[in-house]
Amino acid sequence: MSTPSPGPSYRVLLVCLGNICRSPTAEAVFRRLVEQEGLADRIEIDSAGTGDWHVGSAPDARATEAAARRGIELTGRARQVTLEDFEEYDQLLAMDAANVRDLRELAPPGTEHKVRLFADIDVPDPYYGGERGFDEVLDIVEKASRRLLDELRQA
Ligand code: 4NP
Repeated sequence: MSTPSPGPSYRVLLVCLGNICRSPTAEAVFRRLVEQEGLADRIEIDSAGTGDWHVGSAPDARATEAAARRGIELTGRARQVTLEDFEEYDQLLAMDAANVRDLRELAPPGTEHKVRLFADIDVPDPYYGGERGFDEVLDIVEKASRRLLDELRQA
């Protein structure tokens, strides 16, 4: 006799290049929205990078400060996407078209359909730019998070 699993029913992995700027921001913004809507026990969220340069690092200080100005705390340490992620997550949502391409190249056969853009546009990489870029990331991921939650609700 098996009892129904008490675990989350849906898993979302947010992916960028370094996992220190855009995807940790998207993870924190989407998680806050999911918590506000009382769905934290139904939707599991994590983030990862296609690259390995920053593995183990905390989120970028500029991203952390920009998020903090909106009352959002960035958490976690950077990790790289693994092949297991394609099995364990229902969706791998990429910040830009290069991330989509890299993920689809890595995807085990039959899992490519889980990969798509998170927002309706590329989230611009803020790493080599100024402060303004981090606010732009927040603006885009706040909107995309609302849209994703609406989609999951209707699914
Ligand atoms: P992210 O930003 O992909 O949003 O985390 C970047 C972080 C680091 C690098 C590029 C983008 N980098 O080239 O080291």
